[in-house]
Amino acid sequence: MKWLDNQPSSSVVFLCFGSLGAFNEAQMKEIAVGLERSGHGFLWSVRRPAETEAGTVSDYTNLEVEEVLPDGFLDRTAGRGLVCGWAPQVEILGHRATGDFVSHCGWNSTLESLWFGVAMLAWPVYAEQKVNASVLVKEMGLAVDVGCLKRTETDGGDVVTAEDVERGIVSVMDSNNVVRERVGEMKEKSRKAETDGGCSFASLQQLMDDVMESI
Ligand SMILES: *[C@@H]1O[C@H](CO)[C@@H](O)[C@H](O)[C@H]1NC(C)=O
Ligand SMILES: *[C@@H]1O[C@H](CO)[C@@H](O)[C@H](O)[C@H]1NC(C)=O
Repeated sequence: MKWLDNQPSSSVVFLCFGSLGAFNEAQMKEIAVGLERSGHGFLWSVRRPAETEAGTVSDYTNLEVEEVLPDGFLDRTAGRGLVCGWAPQVEILGHRATGDFVSHCGWNSTLESLWFGVAMLAWPVYAEQKVNASVLVKEMGLAVDVGCLKRTETDGGDVVTAEDVERGIVSVMDSNNVVRERVGEMKEKSRKAETDGGCSFASLQQLMDDVMESI
């Protein structure tokens, strides 16, 4: 958070893939190269994949993280980028320096990002995240596709390339991208929804009324 405090407003790309989200080494290297080429500041929450199906995602040590990243990556991006382990996502999304969220589009992450008006680069990983990401990108215009949505099974598997990452980040961070404006509007709307008379407020009221009526 201290590092973020010293960054310009809306300048940092935040990458975090949820409690289960961790990538293999090949994918990590593609992300790193794409980030480096994009030229933007970044805060990257890197997790070590679980070793077995039932295992859990954990943090790398500093030495281990250097090994899964391209040679010299940390030195070349020092100052402009920070690689960390587990990250306080809500606090980071709420920070004025955060300008883009590279996300798996899990439901909590999506709601948190919209609540703070942070435009998303959608990178769905599992379950119905892909369907939800598609709604965000194609129907609502609240996110940009990193490349997962247009990819088919025969398209070279699951690896998102460095070019995809670079292109996606540059697109979301472009201040003229209409996605940024839409996300700002959604922030206002989501805040209104929770005030007296807003739709979220009214739904909860309705539920309470229904429950009271049935007892
Ligand atoms: C997809 O979106 C629905 C709401 O439309 C939500 O209930 C569900 O949890 C989301 N799925 C994932 C994997 O985030
Ligand atoms: C989503 O957020 C709710 C409320 O903070 C929390 O209880 C729940 O554990 C979160 N789910 C995930 C998958 O993080």
